[in-house]
Amino acid sequence: MDVDALRILEPLCWRAPSAHNTQPWRLDYRPGTVRVGWDPADTLPAADPTGRDLRLSLGAFVETCLIVAADLAVPMEFVADHCAQDRWVGWLRAARRRYDSPFSAAQVQARRTHRGRFSAGPDAQVIETVDAVARQAGGSVRVVPDADLLARLLRVADQQLYADPAVVGELRSWLRLTPAHPDYRADGLTGRCLGLSPVEATGLRAALAAYPALRRLGLPRLLAAAAGNPLALGGAAIVLVGPPGMDDAAQIGFGRVLMRVWLTLHAAGLAAHPLSQLIDAPATRTALGALLDVAPQRLLHIARVGRPTGPAARSARRIGGFGYSGR
Ligand SMILES: Cc1cc2nc3c(=O)[nH]c(=O)nc-3n(C[C@H](O)[C@H](O)[C@H](O)COP(=O)(O)O)c2cc1C
Repeated sequence: MDVDALRILEPLCWRAPSAHNTQPWRLDYRPGTVRVGWDPADTLPAADPTGRDLRLSLGAFVETCLIVAADLAVPMEFVADHCAQDRWVGWLRAARRRYDSPFSAAQVQARRTHRGRFSAGPDAQVIETVDAVARQAGGSVRVVPDADLLARLLRVADQQLYADPAVVGELRSWLRLTPAHPDYRADGLTGRCLGLSPVEATGLRAALAAYPALRRLGLPRLLAAAAGNPLALGGAAIVLVGPPGMDDAAQIGFGRVLMRVWLTLHAAGLAAHPLSQLIDAPATRTALGALLDVAPQRLLHIARVGRPTGPAARSARRIGGFGYSGR
């Protein structure tokens, strides 16, 4: 492959989503081929101890590379070759034909996570379409049937998240709650992306700074309560379910599926607001599995999805500023 083509497209490929916006992927350019790996400094060992979200993010990046290359007439394919020890997931290389995808680089560029209000959830046809996307890979997309129970589970998951100093410390290290943060325009989560007003962002910053001192005095409960109930902001919760017996390489494949699901939603005028803590916390993962009648280890990703009432803030990337304006 003319690897220089990918070098030019790389800033667009970085629009792929990743948990906490850590952008863990790394491209290693070799003669005629490019290895896709990751940097352990950009993983979340406390919040994502099994590496599930890391693998989903890497898969989402691979899918994004293929979509961007295809749209810009660069025939490219991905050869999966997962090596956890040496931290790579496979190779991008020249192909005879362009990758077949209904999505465009402009959609990659425009898609964003939306944590605000939704005026409506996905209709039956959209659910059918995203389910078909997952079924092509042996998975499925399920709508969570009981919103009240899910809201209670979310409260429990938030409490567990904020009770763990390692998880909170890690979250804090990826929050960019003031434009004065040196990495505000590079990575992590800004207050604007989280839908916080400047006052709320300052309050969260102060609370997290006080966390070590106030942890035993009930701050975790307060933080969980302050997180509120995003499910009250509209939409419906959908779950990406994998097949039984998935290994790590299969999870990377489902990161590709997740990207296709999100772009399908985007194309329908909808957006996703992931709620991964529901799968991260063992108790709520088990309860969610029981609710859907699915083994908990098959639950890959959960998000509230719906039609946003307004635009979401654009998240930062370490490389970018690529003024692509579509076909
Ligand atoms: C595997 C995965 C898990 C995620 N989990 C969460 C989550 O639990 N809560 C949340 O608000 N966003 C979550 N996100 C969204 C990321 O924070 C978001 O993709 C990132 O900040 C970049 O923003 P963008 O999607 O608008 O480009 C997740 C994204 C991925 C790929």
